[in-house]
Amino acid sequence: MPNEGSLDAAGKRSERIAADIKAGNVDNYTMLTGDRPTGRLHLGHYFGTIRERVRLQNAGVNTNIVIADYQVITDRDTTEHIQDNVYNMVIDYLACGIEPDKTMIFTHSAVPAENQLMLPFLSLVSEAELERNPTVKAEQQASGHALTGLLLTYPVHQACDILFCKGNIVPVGRDQLPHIETTAKIARRFNERFHCHVFPEVTGLLTSTQLLPGLDGRKMSKSYGNAIALSMTAKETAKLIRKSKTDSQRTITYDPISRPGVSALLTTAGICTGRDPKDIATEIGDGGAGQLKRYTTEAVNNYFAPIRERRAKYEKDMDYVKDVLHEGNKRANEIAQKTLYEVREAMGMVY
Ligand code: TRP
Repeated sequence: MPNEGSLDAAGKRSERIAADIKAGNVDNYTMLTGDRPTGRLHLGHYFGTIRERVRLQNAGVNTNIVIADYQVITDRDTTEHIQDNVYNMVIDYLACGIEPDKTMIFTHSAVPAENQLMLPFLSLVSEAELERNPTVKAEQQASGHALTGLLLTYPVHQACDILFCKGNIVPVGRDQLPHIETTAKIARRFNERFHCHVFPEVTGLLTSTQLLPGLDGRKMSKSYGNAIALSMTAKETAKLIRKSKTDSQRTITYDPISRPGVSALLTTAGICTGRDPKDIATEIGDGGAGQLKRYTTEAVNNYFAPIRERRAKYEKDMDYVKDVLHEGNKRANEIAQKTLYEVREAMGMVY
């Protein structure tokens, strides 16, 4: 995790930019953010960043989303299911309100010129800087996989994602801030070393919503089985919530430390209804975990009903889904080639 000082500064900068965008000053901003296609998107993704992307898109900001398929092989040996995950990610985005005529959606692997930026960018960072990144360390440990060269240099690849389209705002969770710092550093160093202004100043936009825990109170993760996927049916959602672990105390109270399961349900219900979790706890009172689970199930299913309805429609129209990605990849290639040319010019490598 980044230290509190840099978190604070990042928080202040992102508040300032959010206010600027709210005031209608959208022309100075290009958003780039993305997800790795390792499974289905869940409520944590939705409330953590997808909803914010849709807001920025609708506010008129230039918005771009990378489906980070090369990131998948940073810490695993297989690309099994990757194509299916990528298509489902496009379906999730569309269902959540991302509009392909406003937001470019593309995959790493289809944009060679974006990947080529990796070479000059790698020359701008030292091994020690790469070794220091806390998120890379945490991901390597969580995977149980040896640290690959790709994972070690992954933050530099992420800089390619952001900078090829001159992204300057990146809505992300706190864990991604070290990567955004690397991107900002690479942009500054490139401009300095080659006496140019090819790349913008980059800021991570921290979303204001509190981190949504998984149903058991731990970090939400598909591998813990504590995540509600956007693609689940109402019935599957009900089943997962019914199975979630609470405790033997009948009266419902909000206490994330000593009652992680109960509190996670309250937080989930709160975020879906726009209510304070403590008010929901008071209302349920002696109704117990059964009533809390019913309330939470209804809150989630009501909120996501329209999104899931749209999802089902897109699922039946795979030709359209593939077209969206082809179109996004085509545009990304055009932009990447243009930026790569500017990079060659700045470096005196146009022959
Ligand atoms: N690294 C991000 C994650 O693990 C996903 C990602 C890839 C990303 N490229 C990006 C996020 C560029 C923001 C900007 O979730």
